[in-house]
Amino acid sequence: MEHKDFVNLLREYREIIWPIIEKNLEKIVDFEKVCQPKEKYQCLVDYHQKIYETYPKRKGKYFRPCMVMLTGEAMGAPRESLLNAAAAQQLSEEWILIHDDIEDDSAQRRGEATLHKMYGEELAINAGDALHILMWQMLQDNRKIIGDKKTFAIMEEFCKMLNRTVLGQTIEIKWAQENKKDLTDDDILLVLESKTGYYTVAGPMREGAIIAGATTEELDKIYEFGKLTGYCFQIKDDLLDLTSDFCGQKKQCGNDIYEGKRTIMLAHLMRTIKGNDKEKLEKIMTKTRQEKGCAEVDWVIEKMREYGSLDYADKLMNKFAVEASDYFKKELGFLKESPARSYLEYLPEFLTNRDH
Ligand code: IPE
Ligand code: IPE
Ligand code: MG
Ligand code: MG
Ligand code: MG
Repeated sequence: MEHKDFVNLLREYREIIWPIIEKNLEKIVDFEKVCQPKEKYQCLVDYHQKIYETYPKRKGKYFRPCMVMLTGEAMGAPRESLLNAAAAQQLSEEWILIHDDIEDDSAQRRGEATLHKMYGEELAINAGDALHILMWQMLQDNRKIIGDKKTFAIMEEFCKMLNRTVLGQTIEIKWAQENKKDLTDDDILLVLESKTGYYTVAGPMREGAIIAGATTEELDKIYEFGKLTGYCFQIKDDLLDLTSDFCGQKKQCGNDIYEGKRTIMLAHLMRTIKGNDKEKLEKIMTKTRQEKGCAEVDWVIEKMREYGSLDYADKLMNKFAVEASDYFKKELGFLKESPARSYLEYLPEFLTNRDH
């Protein structure tokens, strides 16, 4: 397996899943006759639609729906039974990212302005709400595809996954607000397990497994693999934030430093930095996003290099990748020999080597 094979696979699944999302987006403004707004107000309905469609239309990597598909397929579920759940999983990301961008006050998403920078926070929050409602509607529509029992089991899994995700967001935001300085790797991993381990890898994989009829024991094993692989996903995301312009998609490096996000490398730097550097770092990190200057953010990145924080995070990520691969070989034998299984086995390597 090569890196480009996985990239192609993501593209292939995106081509299959996007039309399902596109069709469902219409449902948000497909009102019943009894509550249909009068024709003269149609331009307002169109305006609403234009806002909520913005992020879905930009499309992302479609990594999470791909996890649903691969796991379901590797456990014997027919492709058609998985597509709608995979599309709902992708849709969850569209509203979470709208709200996340407001919480983080990010300027860019997928190479363009964030929704709240385009339309203001009020309308962006509302667009997130619209997509959130649609996600539940799509999950309910699963009844016709996989029957009531599995439909409710998938909804239950979404609740568990999203509850853990929003817990992660609370903790991360709280620590940034408090400018928390004494965090251990374990503390950071609590956040990473929530917003990436469960949300990005374990949850989507478990959804595919549930549709395929997995046992609780199998679901628990998938959770463990997803957690370890999710650590790799997020540490890489945070490293790329500091070192890459995401293939020209991003205007500046160091968004997470502007934001005050507690990453593995920032926590490491805060623990190891000495003397005048320590004082200067603390002063910079006390500032708000707007008060921080570009030179100050570059200085923090330079100190992360000097004190070995970037290498430290890279090593930790690779340690988790090895653990994930070992765990896969040892415990995930219930994923049948198939191309889908091979892609999943390649996951830790793919995630640690990606460039955006
Ligand atoms: C962004 O996820 C959120 C994180 C947990 C880092 P992705 O990097 O998968 O975003 P898109 O959907 O591909 O743009
Ligand atoms: C994404 O987290 C939020 C989720 C819960 C998925 P981040 O704030 O770390 O993601 P980016 O860096 O903005 O994409
Ligand atoms: Mg963010
Ligand atoms: Mg965030
Ligand atoms: Mg990031």
